[in-house]
Amino acid sequence: MNKKNLIIEFSEYNSLTDGVEKSLVLLTKAAEKNLKNSYSPYSQFKVSSAIKLANGNIILGTNQENAAYPSGICAERVAIFSAKSTFPEQDVIEIAIVTEQSNPTPFSPCGACRQVLMEYEMLQKKPIKVILKSGNSKIWVFNSIKDLLPFGFDAVDILKK
Ligand code: THU
Repeated sequence: MNKKNLIIEFSEYNSLTDGVEKSLVLLTKAAEKNLKNSYSPYSQFKVSSAIKLANGNIILGTNQENAAYPSGICAERVAIFSAKSTFPEQDVIEIAIVTEQSNPTPFSPCGACRQVLMEYEMLQKKPIKVILKSGNSKIWVFNSIKDLLPFGFDAVDILKK
């Protein structure tokens, strides 16, 4: 038996002016500006996401809820599905995920969103950077979706076998 460790590296910043890469700052601000378009009357939890594509386009998404609760969808999936529906050939370079509600550390994307983002990262074979910010929280930057979904199910590989 071998005991093994998994170390995940990510960067923590105190604010957007604490040395965060410029393109991530712009993307985060775009996501924050669009928080107002979250339709979340049931949870009152506003989430917004912005995706930067290789062609420079910024695609936005916010969480959209429904009276039939499970019919709603997270901001990240609205953004990535919209990006891939409009520009299927464009690689995703980075994604910002922000919430209106503050927390000491940022809220992190749900498992379903991580899995969906992982699919496209695997397909494009290039890592997607992730920036997380919740209100006035610390800011976390990950270099790859894999860092948010260790041991993730990589079905894209299975399809090719
Ligand atoms: N939500 C997101 O938009 N993204 C996540 O990663 C987690 C949760 C939304 C879903 C729902 O509208 C609200 O936040 C409360 O769960």
